[in-house]
Amino acid sequence: MTMEPERNRIYRMDCMELFSQIPDGYVSMILTDPPYGIRYQNNFARCPHPPIAGDSGIDYEQFARESYRILRNDSHAYFFTRFDCYPYHYNCLKEAGFSIKNCLVVEKGTVGGIGDLQGSYANNAEWLIFCQKGRRTFNHTPLLQNRKKEGTRPRPGANPSKRYKTRFNACWFGTEYPKATYNSVWQKKHRIYHPTIKNAEFLSWLIQISSQPGELIFDGFMGSGSTAVAAMMAGRDYLGAEIDPAYCDMAVKRASEFRKEALISGPVTE
Ligand SMILES: C[S@@+](CC[C@H](N)C(=O)[O-])C[C@H]1O[C@@H](n2cnc3c(N)ncnc32)[C@H](O)[C@@H]1O
Repeated sequence: MTMEPERNRIYRMDCMELFSQIPDGYVSMILTDPPYGIRYQNNFARCPHPPIAGDSGIDYEQFARESYRILRNDSHAYFFTRFDCYPYHYNCLKEAGFSIKNCLVVEKGTVGGIGDLQGSYANNAEWLIFCQKGRRTFNHTPLLQNRKKEGTRPRPGANPSKRYKTRFNACWFGTEYPKATYNSVWQKKHRIYHPTIKNAEFLSWLIQISSQPGELIFDGFMGSGSTAVAAMMAGRDYLGAEIDPAYCDMAVKRASEFRKEALISGPVTE
């Protein structure tokens, strides 16, 4: 008999192997950033990153099916993607059974220096496919205040406006939203280097919108551990895998340091 995976663990293994140990409907939300199949190596911040494991691609059809299986009914899932992989990822997720609701486009904290520098637009946004298994409505959160004063009626007979927004746009640009990625200054300051690192505060917004405190958030491609930190920021549990030993050690260390700091000083930001 296989044991259920432990909560608040990042396993150093292939995500597909971890899936095989996870019972149906075990996780409450999926928020994950798989490799897309390009080589990300660059000379960013004078700290060349080693090539990313799985850069030649994963079996996305199987990944989509397994993601659907382990997600509880009436729950949300977010999959990072890119414009050129989007049609394939979309089809795999749909075939797996997900209802695809939106593509979120979120401003990066830095503009990528790869690709055709003279003949293509700089990529300044992350894309995420937002899916549901069954149906779940968004939580009401205090993340964004409404511009209108609380209690104001836009017209006679309309509901009075609430203090906080209950509906978010699909494009997150501008100063009121956290950026999707950290820049090189943040990475140098925290000595956490990963070529595709995401901003934990941004991930924690998605977690607060789409899950309840204490629920289990899954990321099979933890990288530097941003999803684990984001789950803790939001008071949720996490579970995930990272295949690269060096990145896995980084993720486990980052998560345990964050937990220690939070225990000493209460809720903290990175
Ligand atoms: C796009 S990055 C994720 C970055 C992460 N969101 C962060 O903020 O640091 C994808 C990660 O998946 C890992 N990876 C690739 N194939 C994998 C597999 N089959 N199982 C688990 N991890 C894998 C890579 O080593 C890489 O660190």
